[in-house]
Amino acid sequence: MKLDNKVAIVTGAGQGMGRAIVQHFVDQGALVYAVDVNSDAVNTTVGSLGEQAYPVVCDITDESAVKELMQRIETEQGRLDILVNNAGIGSVDGFLETPLETWQRVLSVNLTGAFLCSRESAALMSKAGSGSIINLSSTAAQTGEGPCHYVTSKAGIMGLTRSTAKELAPGGIRVNTLVPGPTDTPMMADIPKEWMDAMINAIPLGRLCAPDEIARAAAFLASEEASFITGQNITVNGGMAFL
Ligand SMILES: NC(=O)c1ccc[n+]([C@@H]2O[C@H](COP(=O)([O-])OP(=O)(O)OC[C@H]3O[C@@H](n4cnc5c(N)ncnc54)[C@H](O)[C@@H]3O)[C@@H](O)[C@H]2O)c1
Repeated sequence: MKLDNKVAIVTGAGQGMGRAIVQHFVDQGALVYAVDVNSDAVNTTVGSLGEQAYPVVCDITDESAVKELMQRIETEQGRLDILVNNAGIGSVDGFLETPLETWQRVLSVNLTGAFLCSRESAALMSKAGSGSIINLSSTAAQTGEGPCHYVTSKAGIMGLTRSTAKELAPGGIRVNTLVPGPTDTPMMADIPKEWMDAMINAIPLGRLCAPDEIARAAAFLASEEASFITGQNITVNGGMAFL
């Protein structure tokens, strides 16, 4: 299997893509720390996965909670091989009506949370001299179609990837951006129907992405099959945009 005996963290593991990534990583032989702020949701994710997945209730914007998680993994496993920075939030705001609090919250979860998890994970990975970090962006970062806080946070993710890919490469750590197009998850539930219809019309393959299609791309990037790929945008969007 692609991820035999790898130790992984997946954030935002309580539903949607995060849940699919946890399930697929376990299918591929990984041991997964499934992280989410929502305790019921993350317990449901790991429910049927036995000893191969641990639920972790943690807010990724809380620096001390993230550090505590890394200490726990170091004590329990002695190493960390994979981090998937998947947790993300959004809200539907026009630019002129965007409250400062919303801007700050979206940037905090989508970008600062990824920064904190990356920094603390890389410190642990570098002890073993290897690792793979996968940062979830969005096609919205390329097309600009979406609320300003969300698009900005997802464009920032690409910068985080490029900078850390360069700096961490000598330590054997690869960092890549996974760029999904519109995907069938609970995050999409609040999107107005007209937006949804327009989005699907703009996808040449004519449908939303399935969460498992994102999970399979994440497993590829996490695995040795992607051993010479770092700093890149890997896009899974049904042909909606070309990066
Ligand atoms: N669904 C899409 O169409 C789409 C498209 C492109 C990119 N993305 C991105 O992919 C990722 C996953 O999207 P999704 O649709 O599965 O999202 P989702 O909303 O269905 O799930 C996100 C999960 O993140 C968790 N979370 C939120 N804040 C957190 C925090 N501070 N700490 C820990 N966990 C937290 C939530 O509880 C939830 O379980 C996100 O980064 C999203 O921006 C989604």
